[in-house]
Amino acid sequence: MEIRHFLLGLCAFCLFHRRASAESTCNLKAKFNLSGYKDVEKKKVVIGGMFPIHKRIASNDGNTLRLPVSSDCEGFNFRTFRWTQAMLFAINEINKREDLLPNTDLGYVIYDSCFTISKAVEGTLTYLTGQDEAVPNYRCGDGPPLAALVGAGGSDLSIATARILGLYHFPQVSYSSTCSALESKFQFPTFLRTIPNDKHQSTAIAKMVLHFGWTWVGTIAADDDYGKYGIKDFKEQVEEAGVCISFSETLPKVSSPEDIQRIVQTVVEATAKIIVVFSSDVDLSPLITELLRQNVTNRTWIATEAWVTSALMISLLGGTLGFAVKRASIPGFQRYLLDMDPYTDPLTEEFWETLFNCTLDYGRALRTSKQKARDVNGTLSGEVRGLPDGLCTGCESVAKLNNTYFDVSQLRITYSVYKAVYAVAHALHNLEHCKEGQGPFNGKDCADITDFEPWQLMYYLKNVRFKVPHTDEEIYFDKGDVEGFYEIINWQFSSNGEISYVIVGHYNGSAAPEDRMNILNDSIVWNSEVLEPPRSVCSENCQPGTRKGIRQGEPVCCFDCIPCADGEISNTSNARECILCGVDDWSNDAHDACVPKIIEFLAFGEPLGITLIVISAFGALVTISVVFIMNVGTPLVKANDALLSFSLLFSLVVTFLCSIFFLGQPQNWSCMTSQVALALGFAFCLSSIMSGYTLLPHCVESLTPLWAFYKDIFSFLYTQGIACGVWLIMLPPHSIKNTSAKNIKIILECDEGSVVFICCIFSYDILLALLAFIFAFIARKLEDNFSEGKCITFGMLVFFIVWISFVPAYLSTRGKFMVAVQIFAILASSFGLLTCIFLPKCYILLVKPECNTEEMMRPHAKTRDGTATGTSASLATAATEVNATISSMAIDD
Ligand code: TRP
Repeated sequence: MEIRHFLLGLCAFCLFHRRASAESTCNLKAKFNLSGYKDVEKKKVVIGGMFPIHKRIASNDGNTLRLPVSSDCEGFNFRTFRWTQAMLFAINEINKREDLLPNTDLGYVIYDSCFTISKAVEGTLTYLTGQDEAVPNYRCGDGPPLAALVGAGGSDLSIATARILGLYHFPQVSYSSTCSALESKFQFPTFLRTIPNDKHQSTAIAKMVLHFGWTWVGTIAADDDYGKYGIKDFKEQVEEAGVCISFSETLPKVSSPEDIQRIVQTVVEATAKIIVVFSSDVDLSPLITELLRQNVTNRTWIATEAWVTSALMISLLGGTLGFAVKRASIPGFQRYLLDMDPYTDPLTEEFWETLFNCTLDYGRALRTSKQKARDVNGTLSGEVRGLPDGLCTGCESVAKLNNTYFDVSQLRITYSVYKAVYAVAHALHNLEHCKEGQGPFNGKDCADITDFEPWQLMYYLKNVRFKVPHTDEEIYFDKGDVEGFYEIINWQFSSNGEISYVIVGHYNGSAAPEDRMNILNDSIVWNSEVLEPPRSVCSENCQPGTRKGIRQGEPVCCFDCIPCADGEISNTSNARECILCGVDDWSNDAHDACVPKIIEFLAFGEPLGITLIVISAFGALVTISVVFIMNVGTPLVKANDALLSFSLLFSLVVTFLCSIFFLGQPQNWSCMTSQVALALGFAFCLSSIMSGYTLLPHCVESLTPLWAFYKDIFSFLYTQGIACGVWLIMLPPHSIKNTSAKNIKIILECDEGSVVFICCIFSYDILLALLAFIFAFIARKLEDNFSEGKCITFGMLVFFIVWISFVPAYLSTRGKFMVAVQIFAILASSFGLLTCIFLPKCYILLVKPECNTEEMMRPHAKTRDGTATGTSASLATAATEVNATISSMAIDD
């Protein structure tokens, strides 16, 4: 029966005449336009119901020239119509029961909220006031008392109705409004529900996302409280755990193709493979349809209870995972759905017409005969078949129809409706069976079932505890909510190509945190028909050896993996920073571990070391053999100053051998020895050469004993020796680990201790060398047997060339090659001197022994007094020349 036929407008009129003063008048401002079911006749109590039987209200034409009228509804929803039937079925069942409300027949008033807040408010006001020309705060008429409202569909509708009902302390039991905002007893004091709070669902989805390691997910929310609160709670939880949101889209309530297109675009462009959708099926279906049209199927969808088992979703999103509320089978319900008489009321007529896509054309007069025809064979009778196209009789068979309305395999919200009705009935039963004098109200009063106040029923509802028939589930409202239990459902293609809802796990919000979710990973079929969960990450994990590098302006889950620099490592995946290795360590090639640096020094055993040893030993041996050769060749050696030659040779042996001290792992003693030996060796060598020029004239002329000559050599040596001694005592050279010169190596080298000292000491050698060179240069033109002066000049030139070229070579090498360069310079200069000074002599001694006679020596000896010969003679001459030059220079001055 249409509600508007039950207008109680008159009542309002009377009332106002009674209460309002005579001069005030009342105008009717609006007339509601509601459709639904009503049966209150001869009933003791009436239960209200509200269902979104239509999907939306018809858009009005925006014409403001006419009296605005309450909108009509459109888009018949078979699924929610089934929920409505569940309420009727439950009331029927209760009325038949002997044990529950035995003496009380329940009536009902059910409105269609059309999934719209405005209609839900219209319904609530009408319901409260008993009239669709509402006069708020009054209820007119003498009908049975209203018990509670079962409804109202979506959360936003329930929020609207609960706010109004709360004002009147009127109980509301919702079967599908899950929004967490409704848990506030402060805002919604009379709101109860038989479906879990979305807090549990958001937590469950977050847990699932973390369970599968998805760190990059997209979200789509309906533009209502359900979508917004659900996604907000979900986001809060996952973001805390480090998951990033790739995109967040809102599905508009009235969606234009452009809106849908934009969201599709976002989904297509996003790299997230997981999309969490908090929306009703009605709001979501245009998007899914468009996505499927564009063949965007390689995403995994996480469904909430509102659409997980909805037939509105074209079943192509295989692999979808979702949470569904408890399911039950309600015996007799399917029969009830099938036994449907389309002519009972306008809603059922519309149902029939939408179902068969036809217009019911037969008047009620014809109906009985049609009914008969159907009753007999369950199908259309011949008489009926003769109808014109597009018309139907109401006798069509529904048995074989594959419509969601008749599908009782997934009675979830339907079951919730059933429970809600039972909750109200049980509360009424308890209210009715209150024992007088033991009642809960003031003075142990009881309420009267025929005339009670809504707040009195609220008391009983809050405390109700009962077992649902057929399922034995126990229902009670813990702070208004029921326990958060969900089945995890996976959409799998069955062999006939249809989608089946396979239960792959459970979530129980009241269990211990670690036991809340159990999910059988192996039973899940993912959307690519594989058993492996898809990966949804913005950036793959960074391996050890790299670190995360943030991308400016992007979420933290999107990063680049930047290889650690040399000398730095990261030994965990996804390291934020690379760790610097210790001074003695260096990174390995993979940059995932620090390894000790290679210790470098010029070892004895390596080819270069061996070569150098061989060369220096060879040099020393050659030098020693020269000593012997010189000993043999007496006349010649006599002709030259033997002592001078031997001291020179000895110093060369020292320099050859001291190069060996540069080899091997540097120790403090070897550093000291090598440097000092080198400095003294050269000082000895150069002072020997020098002495020949500076001291001999004096020695020759005054016949000073030879020790005087050596005293002078040693005076040069002393000076050097004392300098070296001071150096060794004050700032001795020592071995150090050079970790900075080469990254991957520790170079063991000698530190000179003091740069000033080493400079002074070698400058002294250079000074000696320069003096020796100058003298030799001046003496080079003097005639003597072996062109002694020339040889020494040449030897000194070689010496300088070697050491001058040593400087750039030394500076441009690193590590052990520096040592090698040093040794080469020592060896080269020693060989240079050895060869230049002694090769001509040895040549004579060995190859031309006939020249090695006293006679051969004599004619060439140019002496002043006929005693000095050979080298000493020539040197003496040279010295005289030098003296003369110097004195002439002095005279010139
Ligand atoms: N849970 C939804 C809400 O709170 C309502 C809902 C559940 C629903 N199942 C549905 C709405 C199916 C439409 C269709 O808003």
